Amino acid sequence: MSGVIPIRSICCIGAGYVGGPTMAVIADRCPGVQVTVVDLNQARIDAWNSPDLSKLPVYEPGLDAVVERCRGRNLHFSTAVDAAIASADMVFLSVNTPTKTRGVGAGQASDLRWIEASARQVAAAARAHTIVVEKSTLPVRTAEVIKTILEAAEGDTPTGSKTFSVLSNPEFLAEGTAISDLEAPDRVLIGGNDPASIEALAAIYGQWVPAERILRTNVWSSELSKLTANAFLAQRISSINSIGALCEATEANVREVARAIGADSRIGSKFLKAGPGFGGSCFQKDILNLVYLCRHYGLSEVADYWEAVVNLNAWQQHRISALVVRHLFGTVTGKRIAVLGFAFKADTNDTRETPAIRICGDLLEEGAQLAIFDPKVTAEQMAVDLGRLPLQGSLTDGFSGEGVWQMAASPREAVAGADAVLVLTEWEQFRQLDWQALAPELRHPAWLFDARAICDATAARSSGLKVWCVGEG
Ligand code: UDX
Ligand code: UDX
Repeated sequence: MSGVIPIRSICCIGAGYVGGPTMAVIADRCPGVQVTVVDLNQARIDAWNSPDLSKLPVYEPGLDAVVERCRGRNLHFSTAVDAAIASADMVFLSVNTPTKTRGVGAGQASDLRWIEASARQVAAAARAHTIVVEKSTLPVRTAEVIKTILEAAEGDTPTGSKTFSVLSNPEFLAEGTAISDLEAPDRVLIGGNDPASIEALAAIYGQWVPAERILRTNVWSSELSKLTANAFLAQRISSINSIGALCEATEANVREVARAIGADSRIGSKFLKAGPGFGGSCFQKDILNLVYLCRHYGLSEVADYWEAVVNLNAWQQHRISALVVRHLFGTVTGKRIAVLGFAFKADTNDTRETPAIRICGDLLEEGAQLAIFDPKVTAEQMAVDLGRLPLQGSLTDGFSGEGVWQMAASPREAVAGADAVLVLTEWEQFRQLDWQALAPELRHPAWLFDARAICDATAARSSGLKVWCVGEG
């Protein structure tokens, strides 16, 4: 095949946090390409098609405007998976790949059953030459598995000769800034060994991404680069959190240390915020994946090295719940704690691996009564994550020493009668909290535990609260 294969129709399997925003931006920037996002989950597709843009299943600043511009024009959401595959020149696989919970590699390896199922569906439904793009983060060498499945289905069809080519095109967007990350990416990475297919995908991104930012590598380098990028980013967070703990033990301040080291251009200033540890669907999963790969290839020291980044993250979260208990006279049984923020970071409704799960879980185990407020996370989602339903009735009723939780409608409602406030997500509105107005609502002596270092600690202290701020001695 010579020249660039023209792409007129794209199908994306998986309408989640990655597939939805990515396809919306491709449709926006490539008006000549029809983009159909398909998903097995009818409720999710219905939400993407909702006339009320505040009901989209993914909350991302700016996403609603992009969807409004393109939906119905060249951006479609559907559950008709086979039809969308059959008419596509290019199919993106953007289904989830969670860590395996059972069998070989449980707790570390990725569960590839949905990737395999999607590949089989593409193999069966495609009608002509189809470029299959791995968008999900996958263990190194997964492209080979996909290729093997697809090649078994190659042959002639009524519409032409059915052939496949597989590319790796990992997504580097961060949630909360997905639209700006997609519109102005630091780089786009395309891994493959068929130049015509690589150029076809490069031409899509080339409609808005400068040519020098589109990198081409072999498939394995591309897959491994995604795991490595996330491992390096997560490592910075565990590194700064480890130093934050030392700052708390001394008279140092981790934000001063971060500013000082970040000014060294070899280190750089980003990703040095101490906090409750990293969450999100990627960091832990991808590092564990790397650990699994290293062990598989007999590199046990390398595996241990990266595993320590994940272990330190869990340690940071348990450390925070333990210090809350310690400061509240060693017991939180029956005490009310206002938790501000449940999402794993600001500007997203995503709670996967959020630090709040482990920290709230520990406090519930200790018998605390939690009043949780988050501007975008629903009570249903919190119940799934915490593994228990919210208490019916008022929090202080029927006190049995059992840990219980409820969702609060506002920060003010959460703090009413509380012994402590625990800030877990850096939502902008928490920076603006008026401590003078809130402090009298608490039961004194009362604490503010600021795990994100975003609150006005001076105002909180002068309003009579005791304050712990992450990384501050
Ligand atoms: C997921 C992975 O977490 C990430 O590692 C990968 O890089 C991209 O895919 P995300 O989009 O955030 O990221 O996942 P999620 O929001 O769970 O969306 C996946 C969607 O795929 C779900 O809506 C699910 O219903 C759908 N799906 C899954 C299918 O349509 N078919 C399947 O066979 C499996
Ligand atoms: C990450 C990668 O950044 C992105 O490139 C990849 O595609 C997917 O994984 P995401 O998980 O959406 O993106 O968010 P990110 O901004 O990286 O934050 C991850 C976690 O680290 C959050 O819990 C965040 O609060 C935490 N974090 C981040 C810190 O604790 N300190 C920091 O300095 C930065």
